[in-house]
Amino acid sequence: MPRMTLRSALAVLILFALLAGSGIAAPPQKQPEASLYKRLGGYDAIAAVVDDFIGRLVADKQLSRFFAGASTDSKKRIRQLVVDQICAATGGPCVYIGRSMKAAHEGLNITESDWQLAVGDLVATLDKFKVAQKEKDELLAAVSSLKPDIVTVSAPKM
Ligand code: HEM
Repeated sequence: MPRMTLRSALAVLILFALLAGSGIAAPPQKQPEASLYKRLGGYDAIAAVVDDFIGRLVADKQLSRFFAGASTDSKKRIRQLVVDQICAATGGPCVYIGRSMKAAHEGLNITESDWQLAVGDLVATLDKFKVAQKEKDELLAAVSSLKPDIVTVSAPKM
């Protein structure tokens, strides 16, 4: 093998320095993952998802009874609070100032069957908006964490 001259050694050193300076030789840096809020498309996307989801809940034969006596303004208030809650829970800039899930749902006697229908409605909404599986799973996990405070009537024992 030919011996490296001082000149060629210097050339190699300069090449390395240039590559390092340009970032080409630097090890790939892992970017921190964007918040779920951002990956869902931000505030307007979340608001559109919530509007569609609540529309399905209110139109659902079994679930409509929960909203039957609510005025238009009361439904708008619930809608806004759900938007704020999901925005805040997914890392967005909103602050949730509503009641706790326990306080808001206690006494409504929401059953396991009601819950399954609501989750089905949410999945249908997320599919309609073509939300990717990863974001869908993360949002469903966040919403499911609220279940113990929302469902107060346990499923009948088999
Ligand atoms: C079977 C499922 C559900 C039913 C039937 C249901 C029903 C209701 C009803 C009737 C209210 C109004 C209570 C009142 O003003 O007295 C309410 C409030 C609310 N719900 Fe639900 N809900 C369900 C699931 C959820 C889920 C999954 C979330 C969160 C993603 C949620 C978030 C809220 C919020 C933020 C409020 C307003 C709280 C406040 O007034 O301060 N609910 N819900």
